[in-house]
Amino acid sequence: TTDLLLALIAGYVLGSIPFGVILTRMAGAGNLHEIGSGGTGATNVLRTGRKGLAAATLLLDLFKGVVAVLLARAIWPGLEEWAGLAAIVGHCFPIWLKLRGGKGVATLMGVALGLAWPIGLVFAVVWIGMLAITRISSAGGMSASVAAPIAAYQLGYQDYALALAIMALVVLWRHRQNIGRLLNGTEPKVGKK
Ligand code: G3P
Repeated sequence: TTDLLLALIAGYVLGSIPFGVILTRMAGAGNLHEIGSGGTGATNVLRTGRKGLAAATLLLDLFKGVVAVLLARAIWPGLEEWAGLAAIVGHCFPIWLKLRGGKGVATLMGVALGLAWPIGLVFAVVWIGMLAITRISSAGGMSASVAAPIAAYQLGYQDYALALAIMALVVLWRHRQNIGRLLNGTEPKVGKK
């Protein structure tokens, strides 16, 4: 139990590093909480018009998910999926930002990759595929997040399926405003303000 607590704390702290907020602020590109959806992830950084900053945010948010899983696997083997879940919670609800974080998609891709690369591959294919078809970031991200636990289950990583299913639920919960906009047809396409 102490190990689980430590793994959760480590995952949370890593996940809660708000790279989008840090990079946007350093670049003098504004306050993400007052831009677009108010989210702290790459999609909202893109709404500042700074593509490089958005790409860096995507990569760093993904990377912290990978690190949370690999670090936990090295120190507390068998608990890496729970550290991954904690990283998603940290990204979505960072205490440093009064719990106003991102929506967890990029970090979940990192967690999936860290857990098992085939799950990460399925995630990437669904994400990019849905993004190409719909041009809507939330539609791509939610589809891939839901695909991850199914992929884990189907591909022989049953041990990870439960934690990934909870991560998908957190991601969907964070997207509830997006879901409302998708249903009434007002969700913006990627790159539009
Ligand atoms: O990954 C976040 C994306 O799915 C939605 O972001 O800012 O359009 O709500 P946003």
